Amino acid sequence: MPAPTSITDVENVPLPRHVAIIMDGNGRWARARGLPRIAGHRRGAEAAKEAIRFCASRNIPYLTIYAFSSENWKRPDTEVSELMQLLSFYLGEQVKDLHREGVCLRIIGDRSRLGATIAQKIEEAEALTRGNTRLHLNVALSYGGRQEIGGAVRQLAERVRNGEIAPEQITEATIHDALYTADIPDPDLLIRTGGEQRISNFLLWQMAYTELYFTDTLWPDFTSAHFTYALQEYQQRERRYGSIREHAAGEAAA
Ligand code: FPP
Repeated sequence: MPAPTSITDVENVPLPRHVAIIMDGNGRWARARGLPRIAGHRRGAEAAKEAIRFCASRNIPYLTIYAFSSENWKRPDTEVSELMQLLSFYLGEQVKDLHREGVCLRIIGDRSRLGATIAQKIEEAEALTRGNTRLHLNVALSYGGRQEIGGAVRQLAERVRNGEIAPEQITEATIHDALYTADIPDPDLLIRTGGEQRISNFLLWQMAYTELYFTDTLWPDFTSAHFTYALQEYQQRERRYGSIREHAAGEAAA
């Protein structure tokens, strides 16, 4: 893919409000260089920083990145523990930079599996950045879409059992409100790097109408120029949400 060198092309066309990213390909990036997988994750974390800065600079208000899935716990213990150390480092040191740049950080996922130290760091990082509004950065950690929907169903069943709501009051809106992303708009654009073309249990409910963009570029190689290219492609898409095109609707009515 020819990466564009200029970002001026996307200046005057509507940008997505919310971009979600599956950062895939760290392991292959490392293997291609004869390096351990963790070296790929380290470079991946730097690429994530660049993507965060890019969104902030382009006034994209919501970014959600998939840092560790519910299924990633099945990886070898050493890789899980190295990834947790890396995430713990970023949750500590790097959060001050995020705070300075006006980023509001939120972690979505099953915190009960993360251990006390990381859970504590998450709480501190979220408390520090809570008032920031420039960019809402959601990091999916020990996250699974089916698990999230399962949690929402349990929560609503509990409310029915307690007599707070009747079953017929369960709607798309009440389900939406029971998800981690209750106060976040659904993603407009999903970017997945690394060549695979699947959703991998990421934001399943929220991505009902999301535009999907897949690229072979491995995540550590994904730069602002690649991000720009993805946005340019997004801007060519016609979003209809299940309806028909506007002019086609006019023609039909005529
Ligand atoms: C997928 O690549 C990537 C992950 C499972 C981890 C993503 C984590 C980071 C980018 C670093 C931490 C992020 C932050 C925000 C500090 P893979 O290992 O499946 O790659 P492969 O398919 O080439 O093996």
